Amino acid sequence: MRIRNILAVAALAVSLPAASFAAGAEGHVTDVSFSFEGPLGTFDQHQLQRGLQVYNEVCSACHGMKFVSFRSLGENTGPGYDPDQVNAIAALYEVADDSDGALPGDTRTAKASDKFPANTSLGAPDLSLMAKARAGFHGPNGTGLSQMVNGIGGPEYIYSLLTGYTGEEQSLAGATLYGNHTFPGGWISMAAPLSADIVEYADGTPATVDQMAKDVSAFLMWTAEPKLADRKGAGARNFLFVALLAVLLYLTNKKLWAGVKKRKKAA
Ligand code: HEC
Repeated sequence: MRIRNILAVAALAVSLPAASFAAGAEGHVTDVSFSFEGPLGTFDQHQLQRGLQVYNEVCSACHGMKFVSFRSLGENTGPGYDPDQVNAIAALYEVADDSDGALPGDTRTAKASDKFPANTSLGAPDLSLMAKARAGFHGPNGTGLSQMVNGIGGPEYIYSLLTGYTGEEQSLAGATLYGNHTFPGGWISMAAPLSADIVEYADGTPATVDQMAKDVSAFLMWTAEPKLADRKGAGARNFLFVALLAVLLYLTNKKLWAGVKKRKKAA
């Protein structure tokens, strides 16, 4: 391959458009520019903290996050809380009491070494890995490369779901369903959880529905993929390494055969 072709392929790989998100045939997913997109994207710590606040104050009423430990909230590629803050957040939750002599059903205040409680409400799925479960890169339209370059699709799906309510309701066999542009099939049993100013952000950011939806989606991306930035760093390093190797091989090849080519021309 000529070097020009190699560069063209590399440029194409980097500019692949955000592949259509596989959010179900009917679901509409809006693209959002998150800070963690792009080959070197990282999580925005303030956004993760705001997203956690939305989870604590709104989503946790029904959903669980049983794979996420409170201690991980102290990771500096994550929300980056100090140990006292982590303890204070853990203390917002009750978990099953596992101490000696506790009766089934007993609870105690959570500690930093615990995980977030599992879901409490029937039918509300666990959110720990939701951003990956709904990621668009699964299936024929998505590629791992596009995921690395354009973000993942899952957080966009969650953002779109939270902002995609039509305002319509219908009753079906005794259950209320809410119209939603994003949910496959168009009707979801989760009432719109967000309304303006339902939380008051500690950092003073105006709590619009749009802002809260973005923040909690980014936070759920972090819970699903806390090592995203590290993996991207490694990916980018590998990419550069292979690109450099290609250039060196090309030059070596040219040098090796230069004498032969000259002789051929002369003949
Ligand atoms: C009043 C309870 C309740 C609250 C509060 C709530 N949810 Fe839900 N959520 C549900 C239920 C029930 C479902 C299952 C809906 C269905 O399958 O029809 C659900 C489903 C979901 C799904 C999965 C949709 C899918 O594709 O299957 C996501 C994502 C979600 N909720 C995110 C959130 C977020 C983020 C918040 C906080 C901003 C939140 N929810 C607050 C009850 C709730």
